[in-house]
Amino acid sequence: MKVELYERDPFVSDAEVIVLGVYDDLKVEWQMPFGDLFKRKIEQYEFKGKVGESFFVTNLGERTDKEILIVGLGNRKDVNFNSLRSSFSLATRKLQEKFVKKAIFDLRFESEVQKMSELISLVVETLLLTNTKFRKYKTKKEKQYEGLKEVYIGVERISKDFKKALNFGIIVADSVIFARNLVTMPSNEVTPKYLADEALKLSKKYNFKIKVLNEKECEKMGMGAFLAVAKGSNNPPRFIHISYKHPKAKERIGIIGKGLTFDSGGISLKPAEGMGAMKGDMAGAAAALGVMKAIGEIKPVMNVDMVVAACENMPSGSSYKPGDVVKSMSGKTIEVQNTDAEGRLTLADALTYIQKENIKTIIDLATLTGACVVALGTDIAGIMGNDKKLIEDLKKVSEETGDKIWELPLEEGYMRFIKSDIADICNISKVRWGGAITAGLFLKFFVEENVRWAHLDIAGPSFREDDLNENHRGEGSGFGVRLLLKYILKKEKAS
Ligand code: BES
Ligand code: ZN
Ligand code: ZN
Repeated sequence: MKVELYERDPFVSDAEVIVLGVYDDLKVEWQMPFGDLFKRKIEQYEFKGKVGESFFVTNLGERTDKEILIVGLGNRKDVNFNSLRSSFSLATRKLQEKFVKKAIFDLRFESEVQKMSELISLVVETLLLTNTKFRKYKTKKEKQYEGLKEVYIGVERISKDFKKALNFGIIVADSVIFARNLVTMPSNEVTPKYLADEALKLSKKYNFKIKVLNEKECEKMGMGAFLAVAKGSNNPPRFIHISYKHPKAKERIGIIGKGLTFDSGGISLKPAEGMGAMKGDMAGAAAALGVMKAIGEIKPVMNVDMVVAACENMPSGSSYKPGDVVKSMSGKTIEVQNTDAEGRLTLADALTYIQKENIKTIIDLATLTGACVVALGTDIAGIMGNDKKLIEDLKKVSEETGDKIWELPLEEGYMRFIKSDIADICNISKVRWGGAITAGLFLKFFVEENVRWAHLDIAGPSFREDDLNENHRGEGSGFGVRLLLKYILKKEKAS
């Protein structure tokens, strides 16, 4: 889809539909030549200007063959990033229902120029994400409507800042879509090697330093936990480390993504129902790669390292088994009581690796537990960690990015549930309750005292089972890309 800024009268553009946001005071901000007609239509449709409302104004008479799509923006004072996302993703869907190819989104309802840049980025991001559906494996191409082809963003006056804002929106959307696609694509295509190749491609394009370790090299590093998970599969593992450095940067942030390209559960095999969704057990890795893609485009004054221990969890004659004891890279031993609690094993070694790189701020993203989905549902990720400030900072950016998070306590007392009789720690809890927290505590066991660490359990929101705002049913959501990107950019500004 093509997006560009537009500063002339929308009625002279070649767009089929003009999208106009209206607050609940029902003032049509930008004086259109159809003021009276609007008033009548607003009454006719009992339009209240709430978020979630919309209607088309058609048959505008001889003066134009265009249609107008009115979308509710809600209360002027309550308007926020999330409500705007809802309004504009709804608008995009309404346009798609009518097979519209060219539209203009008139943003002149916002009068404050400072906010205008943010609004432009957000609208561009939202409509690109809503408009992009995963079609890779659909073979019937002809005659299919494929969404909007061209969009104008109507502004008072085109400026350099606005152009930058538009470009930023495109970069963000592209990075989120990149992550989404990796999650949506099946595990017969997205193997550990595939993830490594994607990382190599990014590194080539953006000049990142990259290391990809194969099974032998991981063995030399002592990654016994990660390799235990990997060894049941015919698709060999890859340990991926990308390093982005800015010459002027002082701070360094480490991102770890869980990279299970398929999680069958291993010998502790999962039930058949819903197992297909476990192609998305690398959503943390996808988001981490998505962040790196955006970083490559934006080149912030910051050092960012990304680590993914990519493998597949499969049952076979060479699989690790319940009861096994494995030695992690940290030297700590782990008793495996359930081979389906594999993510934490791969993450334990990833955590040790990244700490050996002397990185002191670490955020991991992982589709780690079903328990977290039970606790918070499909729209919200759990956040845990050992640093109040880091968690607060992430919570703050979460409000702006739409990637919703909620903190769960790392209750130290629950450590008693993951004690092992014969090893240093056990990979599952003795009790059914609080599974997201005991998983978090397990990870914390591998985090050193002087390291700031936050863990995001994204099992719920990483994959969409229903349409939600800019996301589509049956696809990955790209959850975490915007959250971490915004966090990094805020840190850059503050430094
Ligand atoms: N990948 C799953 C967690 C998951 C569940 C992700 C639902 C996405 C949606 C993870 O490896 C897993 O299997 N966790 C187990 C842990 C249990 C065995 C302690 C779980 O949550 O049931
Ligand atoms: Zn599992
Ligand atoms: Zn898993």
